[in-house]
Amino acid sequence: MFVKIKDILSGKYPDGEEIQIGGWVVKNRSSGKIVFTVIRDSSGEIQVTTKKGNVCDDALREADALALEASTMIKGKVRTDPRAPGGRELVATDVKIVGASPDYPIFGEGHNPEVLLDLRHLHIRSRELVAIMKVKDSVLSSCREWFRTSGFYEVTPPIIMSSSCEGGSTLFELKYFDEKAYLSQSAQLYLESLIFGLENVYSVTPSFRAEKSRTTRHLAEYWHIEGEMAWVGLYDMIDMLEKLVSFVCNRTAEERPEELKLLGSDPEYFKNLKPPFPRITYDEAIKVLQADGYEVKWGDDFGTHEERQLSMHYDKPLFITEYPLEVKAFYMKDAGNAKVLNVDMIAPKGFGEIIGGSERETDLALLEERIKKQGEDPAKYGWYLDLRRYGSVPHSGFGMGAERLVRWICNQEHIRDTIPYPRTISRFNP
Ligand code: 4AD
Ligand code: MG
Repeated sequence: MFVKIKDILSGKYPDGEEIQIGGWVVKNRSSGKIVFTVIRDSSGEIQVTTKKGNVCDDALREADALALEASTMIKGKVRTDPRAPGGRELVATDVKIVGASPDYPIFGEGHNPEVLLDLRHLHIRSRELVAIMKVKDSVLSSCREWFRTSGFYEVTPPIIMSSSCEGGSTLFELKYFDEKAYLSQSAQLYLESLIFGLENVYSVTPSFRAEKSRTTRHLAEYWHIEGEMAWVGLYDMIDMLEKLVSFVCNRTAEERPEELKLLGSDPEYFKNLKPPFPRITYDEAIKVLQADGYEVKWGDDFGTHEERQLSMHYDKPLFITEYPLEVKAFYMKDAGNAKVLNVDMIAPKGFGEIIGGSERETDLALLEERIKKQGEDPAKYGWYLDLRRYGSVPHSGFGMGAERLVRWICNQEHIRDTIPYPRTISRFNP
């Protein structure tokens, strides 16, 4: 059947061998007697030369009529040519149009981003978006590989929930038959229940946040990579996190160096990223920010600007631990002094928070109090509180935003291009 373009470029087929490819038109230029076409498939791009005399008249007409993004089947002979992009081309012996493409709407440069988002179903074929999707594939599969080889089980928590995990302000409500339900913000509470049988668990699920602002790092629907571990304290978890993040960055850069270069990222940096990552406490972070002239005081949460400023002091991801209890979720373990045993991992160069995690509170009375404090009824969390009643263990867990991670690795200004169909406050179509 069809061979892959990357295998032609890599020299798998000797000069003169006749092969067949299927793909889409990137460029087509014709002088009537000779047609130069650039074809892409999922693996790469190659130049095809169709010459009068080498092919029948019908095939020459079809080659001449190949429009931008038309799909085509081409038979041809491999030819090494140092002038051809990629060093090899295909000399056509037969050309057929499979699906015509009259007036493809994305032509040339400089489109308005909103127009491209309206045409997302077509724009996802573009070189840049395809490169990002290949990087994301490496990121997701290397995460899974790390978890599997580190003794974690993959589990499948529910997406429809009866209560919130991260507070009510970003909850998406859902009509669930005759009742009210919510879309998951995090699998955490369910993962916590699963450690009692499996000890180390992880999940890769969509999470939903009704973020009411437009930012370059928030999506309303994103992919959440979450882990939860029995018998593990905060600082042991941080040791694991730097191994996980390094493994994923190293592996992705090894698998996708060309894509990273195309996207303006630096594969060498990601290939060489290694533990340890710098660690500071929230208290130290406040001092650093104040010394840098920021008007922050103890108790403030960090936003984009503060995270950017802190990340400028390091060239590796930064762990910040022990935030004020007031700014963090109810389930984080009390560390005393109005702080919690939590960690945020901030990416370099202002890419911001990529991981949020903590050791979990195991004290039943404290948990009930904190749930009440955030204005909710502990009775709604009855099943979760049962986990503290029956065989409770110290444990920790974290959530990593897949698109935040991909945005950093791919050096993307905006998070929207790290997901095929971004959902934001102003868009859920196409
Ligand atoms: O810090 P967050 O809110 O933590 C939790 O949800 C925990 N329950 C996770 C856990 O411990 N199992 O979210 C975790 C990560 C963030 O660090 C960020 O990378 C990503 O999820 N994230 C988003 N990514 C894209 N768009 C959004 N609106 C996001 N909100 C959070
Ligand atoms: Mg967070």
